[in-house]
Amino acid sequence: MPRQHITQKKIAEHVQRLGELYPPISLDSVDRTIKRPRLVAKKFGHVIDYLARVELEVDRNVLELLVLLPDVDDTNKTFYADVWQPQEIRHGLILDRLQQDLGRAAATLHLDVSFPIKILGALASLKPIQDIAKLLYFLTGASTERQAVLAYNKINRGMQELDERAISETIITPIKQQEPGHFAFYQMSATAMIQDKVLRPWQLFLTRVLRERSYHLVGTNQMDQYKADMGGVMIDLGLDDDLEGYAREVGRVENRLLWAHKQGMEFPPYILKALKESVDLYRERLERGLKFA
Ligand SMILES: [Fe+2]
Ligand SMILES: [Fe+2]
Repeated sequence: MPRQHITQKKIAEHVQRLGELYPPISLDSVDRTIKRPRLVAKKFGHVIDYLARVELEVDRNVLELLVLLPDVDDTNKTFYADVWQPQEIRHGLILDRLQQDLGRAAATLHLDVSFPIKILGALASLKPIQDIAKLLYFLTGASTERQAVLAYNKINRGMQELDERAISETIITPIKQQEPGHFAFYQMSATAMIQDKVLRPWQLFLTRVLRERSYHLVGTNQMDQYKADMGGVMIDLGLDDDLEGYAREVGRVENRLLWAHKQGMEFPPYILKALKESVDLYRERLERGLKFA
């Protein structure tokens, strides 16, 4: 938990460092050896499909950012244009090629900006609303990047257990190294807004209401089909064993920043609700015998 004051200078330096330390991963750096493709596809094919799609949907995330924050400042612009988007799109391309090497279909993307985001974007021309949208945007970033870190940690362990060293060492490990820096950017940005008291009490209240109503897990795009897919990812990665622990990890930043007054609360309840909903939707689909390919 960062206790020191997060200045805009610190955030700008972090972004610059990320750009210098982590150039986008080159597709040629990947060793495409797969020892047992059928086994890898059986165990992790679905997870790789999901991650590839989410990474490639970064272009929609950039559109959403531009809708929500038309007056985006230089640090944010440098982050999304020079660091984040170029890194994520390579993650997507590399994972998409991996899934095709495993004999699976290329990712189909969902690139439409959702209606609620458009509404919020229209209202965000008003400065007080823009600040709310900004905090929501940073909290979403922190939560989704944390989910990415946890997923890549799990899948990497799985690949090592299968002795798929090329996948682990030249795909998952390099991708995994880039995610914590994204998480740190969003966490620092959200923390700075709270520390600097950018939002007045009524704005914070509205942020909590909107967050509670709009929270969704990474890549679910508020659609049942993707929510069920995400449930499958959690089950395949063994994250369903301890949903509360997972909610605690994923919700730590917003629990501290938005809900500090709720003493003793370990995570916002809407996060656990979203996790349970995803797992339930996946199980229902399994029961209906419609397990995706
Ligand atoms: Fe990524
Ligand atoms: Fe990321």
